[in-house]
Amino acid sequence: MVVPEPGLPDRVTIYEVGPRDGLQNEATTVPTEVKAEFVRRLLAAGLPIVEATSFVHPKWVPQLADAADLMTGLVADLGDTARELPVLVPNERGLDRALALGMRHVAVFASATETFAQKNLNRTLTSQFEMFQPTMVRARDAGLTVRGYVSMCFGDPWEGAVDVDQVVGVGTHLLTLGADQLSLGDTIGVATPGHVRALVEAFGDAGVGPERLALHFHDTYGQALTNVHAGLQAGVTTYDASAGGLGGCPYAHSATGNLATEDLLWFLTGLGIEHGVDLDAVAATSVWMAGQLGRPSPSAVVRALA
Ligand code: HMG
Ligand code: MG
Repeated sequence: MVVPEPGLPDRVTIYEVGPRDGLQNEATTVPTEVKAEFVRRLLAAGLPIVEATSFVHPKWVPQLADAADLMTGLVADLGDTARELPVLVPNERGLDRALALGMRHVAVFASATETFAQKNLNRTLTSQFEMFQPTMVRARDAGLTVRGYVSMCFGDPWEGAVDVDQVVGVGTHLLTLGADQLSLGDTIGVATPGHVRALVEAFGDAGVGPERLALHFHDTYGQALTNVHAGLQAGVTTYDASAGGLGGCPYAHSATGNLATEDLLWFLTGLGIEHGVDLDAVAATSVWMAGQLGRPSPSAVVRALA
């Protein structure tokens, strides 16, 4: 039953990260053709944005070492539609690889904390920007859009609670360097709703409205949807999610799956918030993917619909 709640947005954009954040942590290599089929099925389900892969160092994320092969195959198959799929690039080398394939949208990923900057990027909190600056300038000059992720926005496994001002500092730095949108990541899933509201408000106080923000929740403690609710109340209309709740970060071992796209779709549909995505088609894709990976989806909605 659809029962709208006053004061929430009418429509949201779902930014699907299953093929990238969802798969990057899988221990056994997923064949490139399975990844391509995953992307095609997610697009066919109506997901407006599907982040496809990462042009990172293949030794750092072996699962995505086939990024160029995957995108070459998808371009051969889907043409320019494939070039519209965002990809992660940490540095100029990654950007070069994306540009060689004609990709139109890239994302850099910053850390809000010192320890995770070192573990994930081999850079300090400060020197990560020296890597992003030329990458972002060249991407913008080439006409690409640049998303700026900020990781560990709510808590960090090594440093504990993360101060909202520190997150706002990293985020506004990325905007100064030319990011079109910030995705605020709860990499290890420790956020709770008051903290979400406080962070969105702190960005507002710094002149960054909710229309520039996306929220990226992991469901480690089962709080992802309640955090989405807080984000909706604060006016944020873009949410990252991963089909079937796949996911984790290889450099943050306490990171479990992302918010499942199906859980988000069920929640939005019940609130009467438009999203344009076929829930049954996404759930069927996750059941198929679970068969490929050899274990069931952790998503309650996928299980209930199956
Ligand atoms: P580094 O070792 O400092 O790299 O790693 P470097 O700049 O010193 O270069 C060393 C060698 O690597 C050079 O080769 C480069 O060419 C090569 P050599 O000259 O020695 O032959 N190289 C590359 N090769 C291919 N592609 C590249 C690339 N870059 C350098 N892009 C680096 C620095 C950033 C590359 C490394 O730390 C890295 O790849 N990190 C990626 C880690 C990652 O992907 N983590 C997961 C994504 S973040 C996440 O999941 C969080 C998020 O979901 C949001 C949330 O939940 O919070 C986004
Ligand atoms: Mg993530």
